[in-house]
Order: sequence, then structure tokens, then C-alpha cells
Amino acid sequence: MAQADIIIADEKLLPQAVELYNSMFRPKREVDFFKRRFLGRYNVLTLIARLGEVPVGFWIGFELKPGMFYHWLGAVKPDVRRSGIARQLQEAQQAWAKDHGYEHIRCECLNHQREFIHFAVEVGYDIVGIRWDSTHADNLIVFEKHLVE
Ligand SMILES: CC(C)(COP(=O)(O)OP(=O)(O)OC[C@H]1O[C@@H](n2cnc3c(N)ncnc32)[C@H](O)[C@@H]1OP(=O)(O)O)[C@@H](O)C(=O)NCCC(=O)NCCS
Repeated sequence: MAQADIIIADEKLLPQAVELYNSMFRPKREVDFFKRRFLGRYNVLTLIARLGEVPVGFWIGFELKPGMFYHWLGAVKPDVRRSGIARQLQEAQQAWAKDHGYEHIRCECLNHQREFIHFAVEVGYDIVGIRWDSTHADNLIVFEKHLVE
């Protein structure tokens, strides 16, 4: 297990999260794509995981509706996977959401994103739904986790 520093990225640090995104996802996106996605969203939380000074992962969420936080997007650099970095990002996001009064977190992934399915089940999410995503021609798995007893 690697001990990461988990930091909250403000607007100045958002480009670091975007750089991480672009190193792992296609098509590449500009910072403006993220800013556009955040428009009208309440409680946007962007987290960056660093090992030493090196950014190795990001985790982005926002309010979906009152009481429910939504984990939108996140990834960890391939060379440091399976060292507990996503678990630390998820725990930080969950603690933040709980502190801000949310009762549930939801996230989604495509059926072919098996690493994330394993991860989500491991960190305590329930599978609450599945729907066909015609954009990606794949099933989308919907996960939720209760934050309060
Ligand atoms: C999914 C992802 C974020 C996991 O990040 P990570 O830092 O490697 O995850 P962790 O090390 O914190 O894993 C915690 C636990 O989740 C499970 N897990 C994580 N990756 C797994 C894999 N590839 N296969 C099986 N189980 C896995 C394990 O139980 C793991 O604990 P263990 O290593 O002690 O067995 C990472 O693989 C990733 O970025 N994938 C590509 C992007 C992606 O799919 N994003 C999600 C859709 S937006």
C-alpha cells in the first residue's frame, strides 16, 4: 500500500486533474470541457492523489440531487494501480460527502470497465441498476453506497 497525499483541487489545480485525465482517457479534453460539465453543479469536489510531488490519480464528484453525491470520474496511473490509491481517493470523497450532509453516493461505469466493477464492490457499493448506454454500446452499471446507518 502506498500512502498518498489527497488534496482538494481548486480552479488553479484543475489543470493537473485534466492532465491526469488526458494521460489515461481518449478523446483528450481541455480544461474548459470540465468547467462546462461543472456549470450549474453544486458542491463540485475534485481530488488529486500525490505520491511525493507527483500527481498519480484524480477523483471528481458533485451533487446529483439533495442527499445524493455523485462520483463522476476518476482514475489512477497504471504504474501505481493496486497500491490503494483509489481506495484513499474514494475514502476522502466519501468523508467529504458525509461531512457535507449527503446520505448516499452513486457512481456508474460501463460493463467493460471491470477494474472499476471489482473496485466498487470491494469498497462497499451495491449494484442498484443497469441500463443500456447507446453512446458507448455497452451496459452501464449503477452503484450506490449509503453513508449513514
Ligand atoms: C479502477 C481504478 C480507479 C482502481 O484504482 P487502484 O488505485 O488500482 O485501486 P486500489 O489499489 O485502491 O484497489 C482497491 C481494491 O479494489 C479492487 N481492485 C482494484 N483494481 C482491481 C482489478 N484490476 N482487479 C480486481 N480487483 C481490483 C481490489 O480489491 C483492491 O484491493 P487489493 O489490491 O488489496 O486486492 C483503476 O484501475 C483505474 O484507474 N482504472 C481505469 C479508469 C477507470 O476504469 N475508471 C472508472 C470509470 S470512470
